[in-house]
Amino acid sequence: MKGVLLSGGTGSRLRPITHTGPKQLVPVANKPVIEYAIEDLKAAGITEIGVVLGNKGREEIQELLGDGSNYGVDITYIIQGNPLGLAHAAGCARDFVGDSDFVMYLGDNMLRHGVSDLIESFQAGEYGAGIALQEVSNPEAFGVADVDDQGTVTELVEKPDDPPSNLALIGMYVFSPAVFDVIDRLEPSWRGELEITDAIQLLLDEGHAIDSHVVTGWWKDTGKPEDILEANRLVLEDESLETAGVVEDGAEVDGRIELHESAVIEDGAVVRGPVSIAENTVIKSGTYIGPYTSIGANSELKNVHIENSVVIGESTITASERIVDSLLGRNANVESAEEFLPEGRRLVVGENSQLKL
Ligand code: TTP
Repeated sequence: MKGVLLSGGTGSRLRPITHTGPKQLVPVANKPVIEYAIEDLKAAGITEIGVVLGNKGREEIQELLGDGSNYGVDITYIIQGNPLGLAHAAGCARDFVGDSDFVMYLGDNMLRHGVSDLIESFQAGEYGAGIALQEVSNPEAFGVADVDDQGTVTELVEKPDDPPSNLALIGMYVFSPAVFDVIDRLEPSWRGELEITDAIQLLLDEGHAIDSHVVTGWWKDTGKPEDILEANRLVLEDESLETAGVVEDGAEVDGRIELHESAVIEDGAVVRGPVSIAENTVIKSGTYIGPYTSIGANSELKNVHIENSVVIGESTITASERIVDSLLGRNANVESAEEFLPEGRRLVVGENSQLKL
């Protein structure tokens, strides 16, 4: 079994963060999303991983993951270029996959319990593909599968008006190499992409059995800013967090705090976990950091009250403001304007930014 990790795509729903980098590198609890996927594949015993790269952020992804040895895996890079669809991305991995079965993992997705159960279920029979499903309350918004008592798929429908079940397809798949022959014959959909659901449908139409596995732990697609905040909440809730850095006398710290050994919470600051604070970051007097917040590396916070937020890193935040439910990109600075006249907010806001003042 090999792994194919998709790291191309446009990331348009995560602009402006993705103007300057790929979404797979956005940190959740101070760890890039794609590292969670690598760890899941490794935990499922998959060490040969093909990472599919688009046009954006190729160098950054390669710089982070390298040859995979830091993660105990062996990484091969596969260039897709333009995002022509998930089935197109899978097709680009044909030479890498050869005649193995493979797991296809979307590089911006997170799965609480990993992919081992999905693989085990697929390997228990003779299947052309295995899909991961999750019960949702709004199946009309998803690709939906109908399955029999054994979990074998009987029907697949994309965003149905009248859903045959409440089981939505989520971004994890296992394929036999038979998928490459159907990908070769796919036509682009109305949105101009080779769709993975069309490939699975064609496998089904041509007599391949399709397995399904219903995922019980949480699953998160981190495609939008609010998804990043939710994924951050879910991870901070679940992980054990270690306080290795300095908490000065006079700082008030409650709950679980991940504090990098080079980070400092100074006298007069208040931090209520779960919170993650990365390397070289200093939390100064007058700052309040509330639950479900991650502060990235090389940042300085002073006087601000911030909670349920992700600060990616290299930021200076010194305004006496309450910041909630926010995602701040790398090098974003929020400073006080109090000493300037005329009074008012002074903004330098990038394309596609959203501010609620
Ligand atoms: P999506 O989130 O469906 O697509 P996108 O990245 O283009 O995002 P947006 O809709 O916001 O513009 O992609 C799911 C995952 O698959 C993501 O990790 C990117 C990856 N992907 C590819 O590698 N190649 C592709 O052709 C596509 C469409 C996605």
